[in-house]
Amino acid sequence: MRPATRTRGSSNAVTNGVGVQAEDTRICVVMVGLPARGKSLIAQKVVRYLGWLSITAKCFNVGNYRRTATPQPNAAFFDTSNKEGERLRKAAAEAAVDDMCKWFRSPDNLIAILDATNSTKPRRRWIKERCDAEGIETIFVESKCDREDIILSNILEVKTTSPDYEGLDPEHAAKDFLERIKMYERVYETLDEDEADMTYCKIINVGSQVIINRIQDYLQSRVVYYLMNLHIKPRSIWISRHGESMYNLSGQIGGDANLSARGRKYAEELPTLVKRSAGDSPLTVWTSTLKRTAQTAQHLPYEKLAWKALDELDSGVCDGLTYAEIEEKYPRDFKARDEDKYNYRYLGGESYRDVVIRLEPIIMELERSENILIVTHQAVLRCIYAYFMGSTQEKSPWMEVPLHCLIRLTPRAYKTEEERLFADVPAVSTWREKGSKAAHQVQTLSISECAEMCTDIACAQDTPENSRRPSPSIAAQTKP
Ligand code: ATP
Ligand code: F6P
Repeated sequence: MRPATRTRGSSNAVTNGVGVQAEDTRICVVMVGLPARGKSLIAQKVVRYLGWLSITAKCFNVGNYRRTATPQPNAAFFDTSNKEGERLRKAAAEAAVDDMCKWFRSPDNLIAILDATNSTKPRRRWIKERCDAEGIETIFVESKCDREDIILSNILEVKTTSPDYEGLDPEHAAKDFLERIKMYERVYETLDEDEADMTYCKIINVGSQVIINRIQDYLQSRVVYYLMNLHIKPRSIWISRHGESMYNLSGQIGGDANLSARGRKYAEELPTLVKRSAGDSPLTVWTSTLKRTAQTAQHLPYEKLAWKALDELDSGVCDGLTYAEIEEKYPRDFKARDEDKYNYRYLGGESYRDVVIRLEPIIMELERSENILIVTHQAVLRCIYAYFMGSTQEKSPWMEVPLHCLIRLTPRAYKTEEERLFADVPAVSTWREKGSKAAHQVQTLSISECAEMCTDIACAQDTPENSRRPSPSIAAQTKP
């Protein structure tokens, strides 16, 4: 049974804004499948997606437990006739399940992912019984893939560099890994009608077919829907703020202002900047419904779609004010926002948490899509960036996203690569440091100097220092 300390009021289900989860639901997502079928990648993406939505989730990777006793096994270790190997593998699975059950005793912990091959029916039955005994729901997620090209490229992309083969020749590693797969194939049983009493989702050949069975509640269906939208085609997502607006110049927030002359110049240069980064790849452009994003995207020669969900964070009664005016008129609110910027909701407006919730369909659509260019606003861009880079709620609202800069995000297995390209068009900085005097700042260093210092910021996972324009010293502390 659920521990008595867990109440609706204390659970994420109420406070995270997606609060439709039944108060007693805790879910163990049990990954199933042969090695190199993307299970760990899927598990990590689910954890990141749920974390972004403030649903506390954690991955328990049985391989990590196994590695403490057997750091670098060869394929023979995974032969089921190898008694010692079997014993150690079972011990690793038990240790992971024990830790997971302990983790679920904390009231805010809602979803665990048990990441292992779980490739036989008896192993899955055992997991279900352990979870049933703890009152934890199970959902089995199988990745089944018989596309040899995909499996081989997965091995080369991630397995030869796994800690299991550290310091070993990659060719030897790939061969041994193929042998390991054969060991598993001997005993592997796919989810089928024998397990019709279980909740499961079978993803076949990277989503070309999906079979779902007994999906029971909202959170389960949400996870399944997310899984159905994942693909592994190479692609990038480009994000840019709108060009400098008249409100940016005056230091006012919100509104629906036109671009400034420099903002219009950025709009003119954006197609060249995009072409430099995307070449001739086909793109779709998403904007908000506000004038400044449409004006910024106007010269882009691609299909365009305007989303209300991409509109800037609604600053309620503060819309149209400068930060200095907000500090003067609403000093307590101004301070409260600095103290907890992610959760602070403007009077009659929104918080960053609210923006994340309304962006969920955007993220889902982004996962389904290939190359997309999003022209949006500072706060919205921070939230989208946080999803891809796994940034924390403490840091993401403070991230510096300069105007006139195109960010390219390229999701790869286990990381998202980042590249920043600056247009040679100056703009004010709208970034305000926590606790600072509220004033927009003027960019005094030429953008080409910035560009030299700032292109090719690669693979930044949650490193806000990488997200800044070169240095605060290049920005004068005066208004234009
Ligand atoms: P192991 O059992 O050895 O831990 P695994 O199944 O966890 O293997 P991953 O390490 O997650 O495999 O493999 C990552 C690779 O799988 C990435 O290259 C990714 O592109 C690819 N991948 C992601 N999703 C799928 C999928 N549904 N089917 C096949 N491959 C996928
Ligand atoms: O100043 C530009 C702007 O897009 C405003 O319209 C918006 O209120 C603000 O940035 C969001 O940034 P922050 O959350 O740092 O105030």
